[in-house]
Amino acid sequence: MNIDDCKLIKFKEFADPHGNLVAIEGVKDVPFNIKRLFYIYDILSDVVRGKHANRKSEFILICLNGSCKVDLFDGINTKTIKLECNTEGLYIPKMVWKDMYAFSRDCVLLCLSNEYYDADEYIRDKEEYIKEVS
Ligand code: TYD
Repeated sequence: MNIDDCKLIKFKEFADPHGNLVAIEGVKDVPFNIKRLFYIYDILSDVVRGKHANRKSEFILICLNGSCKVDLFDGINTKTIKLECNTEGLYIPKMVWKDMYAFSRDCVLLCLSNEYYDADEYIRDKEEYIKEVS
């Protein structure tokens, strides 16, 4: 997998005078069955989260509120994406290194994944990651 496989997916927004709604269904709106979701919030602006790659997990990152940045690295190329729109999600396939940072105070980052949490499938050592993908 490389960072060209990372892409922003625009979700359909149901907007009416009462407010807005976005619905996301596994397989139909994101490229996997959703097994897990988690969200991060109240993050200090100088904190870098993520700092890992996953052997099995794919993700969709949706910034529900505020903004943050994501650096993607596939062992060769890097790409930075700013997330600030709650009607789009960043798809990240497995084996892509990710760093999330520049969180606004009000940022709420929702993450969807195709896998249950398994700490053993996380690669947290960047040198080990580079060795595995090269
Ligand atoms: P961690 O992966 O370090 O978060 P981040 O990549 O955002 O820095 O996870 C922080 C803690 O939360 C860690 O103790 C593991 C736990 N956790 C779960 O129990 N389930 C999950 O799905 C995730 C992502 C984390």
